[in-house]
Amino acid sequence: MVAGNWKMNTTIPDGVALARAVLERCGAEGTVDVAVLPPFVHLWPVREVLAASSILLGAQDVFWEEGGAYTGEISPPMLAGWCDLVLVGHSERRHLFGETDAQTAHKFAAARRHGLMVILAVGETETERDEGRTVPVVDRQLEAVLAEIDAPPPADEWVIAYEPVWAIGTGRTASPAQAEEVCAHIRAAVSARAGESPRVLYGGSVTADNAAELFSRAGIDGGLIGGASLKPELFADIVAAAALAALAR
Ligand code: 13P
Repeated sequence: MVAGNWKMNTTIPDGVALARAVLERCGAEGTVDVAVLPPFVHLWPVREVLAASSILLGAQDVFWEEGGAYTGEISPPMLAGWCDLVLVGHSERRHLFGETDAQTAHKFAAARRHGLMVILAVGETETERDEGRTVPVVDRQLEAVLAEIDAPPPADEWVIAYEPVWAIGTGRTASPAQAEEVCAHIRAAVSARAGESPRVLYGGSVTADNAAELFSRAGIDGGLIGGASLKPELFADIVAAAALAALAR
């Protein structure tokens, strides 16, 4: 899977144009699941652009309540049935907006109650890595979610994205070996707990230049792409790299 997290970028007309460009370049992709995650207000118009394609539509966040007095929030029932997936636990939610492991777990569980596919993002800060705490931090983030739900979703209905915080938007990509090591740990930890691991993506300064090497690693099933997802030609090159890696497996 290659998923483009547009974050808080593009106006609606620019987002619709970007979706058209992604459709043009990636619409015929048959090997890799391609997803775009535009801002909330773009979801409906982007859905209209992508309607006849297999490109998945995702939201960047979701709230855990069904409805009520929660100014500014978007609930799972508002998205269910027409939006394919939601991202929860992105490091920008955790670190810029103070979202806790427990809140991320509530969001995950609420999205699943409404049948939404979920991408769960996990990852350590630079300090946590320097202190040798990468594995315990990622384990804690995963466990918070697994403890909240009765049973893990079927492996094809969720995805884990390993995004080291220090690699996001910094141009400092994790080395393929660093990324593979943590992705392999995640896969083993979730398999031990849930039976079968979902796909594990890497995110953090993925570009058209480093994608092929990252995706060639056995434990990395694709990427969650920020900056490069705003440039359709770069995003399409990353999708092509994932398709080649998938064929080589
Ligand atoms: P960049 O690709 O811009 O580093 O962002 C990664 C990310 O946060 C995707 O969710």
